[in-house]
Amino acid sequence: MDDDAAALFRRACAVTPGGVHSPVRAFHAVGGQPFFTRHAAGARLTTTDGRELVDFCMAFGPLPLGHAHPAVAEAARTALADGWSYGTAEPWSLELAEFIAGRLPWAESIRFVNSGTEAVMTALRLARGITGRTTLLKFDGCYHGHSDAMLVRAGSGLAGVAGSAGVPPAVAADTVVVPLDDAAALAAAFDRHGAGLAAAIIEPLPANFGLLPQRREFLAELRDLCTRHGALLVFDEVISGFRLAFGGFTEVTGLVPDLVTWGKVIGGGFPVGACAGPRDLMQYLAPPGPVYQAGTLSANPLAMRAGLATLRLLEDGSAYRQLDALGSRLEQGVRAAGYHVQRAGSLFWIPGAAPQPGTLRSAAQVDARLITDFPALFHRLLDAGIYLPPGPHEVGFLSLAHTAADVDRLLAALA
Ligand SMILES: Cc1ncc(COP(=O)(O)O)c(C=O)c1O
Repeated sequence: MDDDAAALFRRACAVTPGGVHSPVRAFHAVGGQPFFTRHAAGARLTTTDGRELVDFCMAFGPLPLGHAHPAVAEAARTALADGWSYGTAEPWSLELAEFIAGRLPWAESIRFVNSGTEAVMTALRLARGITGRTTLLKFDGCYHGHSDAMLVRAGSGLAGVAGSAGVPPAVAADTVVVPLDDAAALAAAFDRHGAGLAAAIIEPLPANFGLLPQRREFLAELRDLCTRHGALLVFDEVISGFRLAFGGFTEVTGLVPDLVTWGKVIGGGFPVGACAGPRDLMQYLAPPGPVYQAGTLSANPLAMRAGLATLRLLEDGSAYRQLDALGSRLEQGVRAAGYHVQRAGSLFWIPGAAPQPGTLRSAAQVDARLITDFPALFHRLLDAGIYLPPGPHEVGFLSLAHTAADVDRLLAALA
C-alpha cells in the first residue's frame, strides 16, 4: 500500500468521483489535498504518511467516547464472533430500542435504519402517510441528509448552493424553506402552506451551517404552529441526539417533537440511523401500517451492539458534564485568542476570521467575511498537528478522549 497521500489521492480520483465517498472529505472548501487516515485511537488520527493529528472533527460526530473506545471495540468484536448479518429478528436491536425507549418517553417506538439520510426519509414519508398531505417545511441552512426533498438550502457541503442537480423541480417545489430565527416568516409560511403541510423538520440545534443556536421561544412557536395546523414536527437530532444530553436537544429544551430522527452516536460509529416517536404514529410504518420502509442491513448487529455499548457509557450524564467542561475551556481560550466561537456542550464552531460580537442564529447572519480566512487557519492548524473539520461551515466535536492538554494545544496553535 502506498503511503504518500498525494499518490493515494491520484489513484482514488481515477476510480472514485473526486477521490472520495462523501464530498467534504475532498478538502474543496479549504484547498489542498486530503490526507489519508490509516489508524485512529482516542483523540488521535495517524495518517498514511506517519503524522499524528489531534482530531477535532471526530468523524463528524458519531464518537463521543473517542476513536476505538475499548468498550465499543469489545462489543463489536463479540458481535463479529456471532456473525454480522442475519436478516432475521435478533435480540440486539430489541435491547437498544428498549434501552432508549425506557429512558426517553417521546420515543416509545423506534425503527432502525442505516444512515441519518434514511432516518429522515422514513420520518418524512411517515408524516406524509399519516397526514395525507404533501408539503414539507425546512429551514435555511439545516441539513437533513441527501434525499431529494431535503436538498434545498441545506448548509455545509451545500453552503451557498441552491440545491443539487438531479432533484426534480416538482420535488423541490413541495419543500418550503424558511429562515431560522424569523418568527414572522415562519408565521407567514404556516398561513400560506399550513393546510397542506405534512411536516416541519428542523435541527433543533442547527449544526450544518456553522452552529446556529435557536432561541427556545422560536422552537416553541414552531411546536405550537405545527400543532395548530395539524402538521407533524420532526426534530432531526442526527447530530444533537445523545451528544448534548442523553435525550438530545429535546431534553435540553423540554419541547417534544412528534417524530425524532437519530444517527451517528446511536451506532457508536457504525452505519446507523433511527426514526422514533409515539407508538400510535410509528404504527403507520410497515408491517402494521401502510407506509413502506425496509432495509437489508437495518439493525445490523454490529451497529446495534456498538451503539448499546456507547449509550451505556453516556447514560448517567457525567460524560456530558465532562464534555461541557472541556468545551468551556476551549470556548474561553478561543475567544481570548481573538476568534469568533460558538459552542454547545461538545460541539463548537470556529469560523476563520476576526471576532464577531453576538450569537449568530440564521444562515443570513453568517457574514461571508467571517469565514474567508478559514482555509488559511485550517492549514496553519493542520501544519501544527491539529485537525479541524475541513470546511468553514462545519462544526468541531470534542470527545471524552480529548484532554485539557489537547485543547490547550489547539489554543496554542490558534494564538
Ligand atoms: C442533522 C443531520 N441530519 C441528517 C444527516 C444525514 O446523516 P447521514 O450522513 O448518516 O446520512 C446529517 C449528517 O451529517 C445531519 O447532520
